[in-house]
Amino acid sequence: MSGRKLRSSQWFGNVDKLGFTARGWMKNQGLPDDQFDGRPVIGICNTWSQLTPCNAHLRELAEKVARGVHEAGGFPVEFPVMSLGETLMRPNAMMFRNLAAMDVEETIRANPIDGVVLLAGCDKTTPATVMGAASCDVPTIVVSGGPMLNGRHRGRQIGSGTDVWRLSDELNTGKITKAEFIEAESCMNRSAGSCMTMGTASTMASMVEALGLALPTNAAIPAVDSRRKTLAQMAGRRIVDMVTEDLRISKILTKTAFENAIRVNGAIGGSTNAVLHLIAIAGRIGVDLTLEDWDRLGRDMPCLVNLKPSGDFLMEDFYYAGGLPAVMKEIDSHLDGAAITVTGKPLSDGYADAECFDRDVIRTLDAPFKSLGGIAVLKGNLAPKGAVLKPSAASPKLMQHRGRAVVFETYDDYKRLIDDESFDMSPDDIMVTKMCGPRGYPGFPEVGNMALPRRFLKAGITDMIRISDARMSGTAYGTTILHVAPEAAAGGPLAIVRTGDMIEIDVPNRRLHLDLPEEEIARRLELFETPPLYLDSGYSRLYQESVLQADKGADFDFLVGCRGTPPPKDPF
Ligand code: FES
Ligand code: MG
Repeated sequence: MSGRKLRSSQWFGNVDKLGFTARGWMKNQGLPDDQFDGRPVIGICNTWSQLTPCNAHLRELAEKVARGVHEAGGFPVEFPVMSLGETLMRPNAMMFRNLAAMDVEETIRANPIDGVVLLAGCDKTTPATVMGAASCDVPTIVVSGGPMLNGRHRGRQIGSGTDVWRLSDELNTGKITKAEFIEAESCMNRSAGSCMTMGTASTMASMVEALGLALPTNAAIPAVDSRRKTLAQMAGRRIVDMVTEDLRISKILTKTAFENAIRVNGAIGGSTNAVLHLIAIAGRIGVDLTLEDWDRLGRDMPCLVNLKPSGDFLMEDFYYAGGLPAVMKEIDSHLDGAAITVTGKPLSDGYADAECFDRDVIRTLDAPFKSLGGIAVLKGNLAPKGAVLKPSAASPKLMQHRGRAVVFETYDDYKRLIDDESFDMSPDDIMVTKMCGPRGYPGFPEVGNMALPRRFLKAGITDMIRISDARMSGTAYGTTILHVAPEAAAGGPLAIVRTGDMIEIDVPNRRLHLDLPEEEIARRLELFETPPLYLDSGYSRLYQESVLQADKGADFDFLVGCRGTPPPKDPF
C-alpha cells in the first residue's frame, strides 16, 4: 500500500455520506471492506467489442490484468470505452479516434482511478486510449491485444489487408473465382487478434513498446499465444507499483521517447498512420513533435524488418525471430536507450539481452531489408504544410518524376471514372484525388492508395504515383503521397489542381511542386468555395469544425494539451 494519499481516497477515504455512497454502491459487486483501505485503484480501460473483431478477445486479457493487480495489492476496476473497429465503421474509424479519446479521458478523470491499463488492438484504439490517458497524466501501461496467427491460403501465407488488395485485383482480372475469393476470408482471419501484417495495429503496438509505454515484447506476441496472457498479468502487477512510484505517463512520454519511436518506425517499415497518431499523442502531453522530426529521424534509418506490406513475412514470424526487442538491439546506436519506460528502467534494459533467431525476418543494419526506411515528408507549393510518403512501400523508379496530373475531384469521381475504358490516362500520369482529408470526407479515410485501372493491371503495371489528402491503410503499398496539408476541403492548393497541370515529385530533395505560376495558383484559389458540411449538426459537425490538419495529427483544436486530474467536485 502506498504511503501517499492517492487520488481515489478522495472518493473512498471519507467516512461521510459521500464515502458511504462511493464505497457502498461498489460493494454491491461483492467487495470486502478492506478493498477501500487506500490501495491503488487501477482502471482497466477496455476497448473490447464484438463490433471490433480485432479486440473481441480483450475481456480475457482484462481478467489477467486484474489478477496481476490483485497480486500486487491493488484494486482493479474494468470499464468499457468506445471501441473503434476499422472494418465495420463508416465513414471510417479515424473519424471517431478523437471521440474515443474523449471517452477515455473523461472516464478516467471522472472516476476514482489512480492508474490505468489500456487494452487496445485495432488501429485507432491504441492512439485513442493513449491520447485520453495522456491528457489526464496518470500512470499508464498499454497492453496490446496482439496479432492474429499468420493467414494461410492454399499452401501460401496471406497477410491481413495486404493480400486483400492482391486478391481483389486477382478477382477483378479473372485470375481467381468468387468461391476462391470467399474461401480466402476464413484463411486470412483464423484466430483472435489484430491484423498480422505490419499494418497500423502492429505499428502502433510497436510504437507503444518503443515509447516505453508497454512491457518489452508487447508488440509481437500473437493474440492467442499464452505469453500474451502472462504479459497482461505482469502489466497488472507493474501498474500498481507505478502508482506507488508516481510514475506518470508524462515522465515516460518525453521528446526522447518520441524520437526513439520514430526511429523504430523506420526500422520496422511502420505505417504512415503512426505519423498522425504520434503527433496527436505528443500534443496531449505538451511535447513539440513535428513532421520535420519525422523526416529528420527517419532519413538515415534503414528498414530491417521484412514484413508485409513492404516485405514477405508476418507478425508470427516476427515474434519467433525475436520481435521488437531484437530490432531495438540492432539499432541501439540510433536510440537513446536511457529513456525511462513503464518498467521504471531504461528502454535498453528491455532489449539488452534480445537475440535474433531469423535473419531473413529481422535484418542487420549492415545488410538491411531496404535502405530507405522512415517516412519522407515532402513540401512545396502543392503541400505547404507537408505530405508524407513511405519510401519502403514505393517504387524506386518513381521517386523523381514529372508527370501530367489526372484529377479526380472526389473519391466518388475516382470510382466512377477509373475503369471507364475511354478515360484518358497513362501510367506516367499522376493520379490526384481531392476532398479526402480530415474535413473533406469527413474523417480522413484510407483511400490514398487508389487502385490502378483494370486495364493497367492486366498489362502488368502495378504502380503509379498517386497524390491525395487521404490516408492509406498501413497494410497497403505503392508510390502514394498522402496527408497533403492543408487539405483540399480546407482550401489547400490541392483543391485547384486541374487535369493537364504538370506536377514534379522529387523524394530525395523532399519536393512536391505544382508547375504553375504563383499568380495562376492565387487566381484559382480565389475561386475556391468551401464545401458544405456533411451533416450540419451532431458529432459530424463538431468533427468538421474542430479537426486540425494532418500536420497537427488531426486532433481536435480544443483537445490539444494535458488537463491532468484536478480535485473532483462533489456531485451533491
Ligand atoms: Fe483491426 Fe486491422 S482491422 S487491426
Ligand atoms: Mg488498418
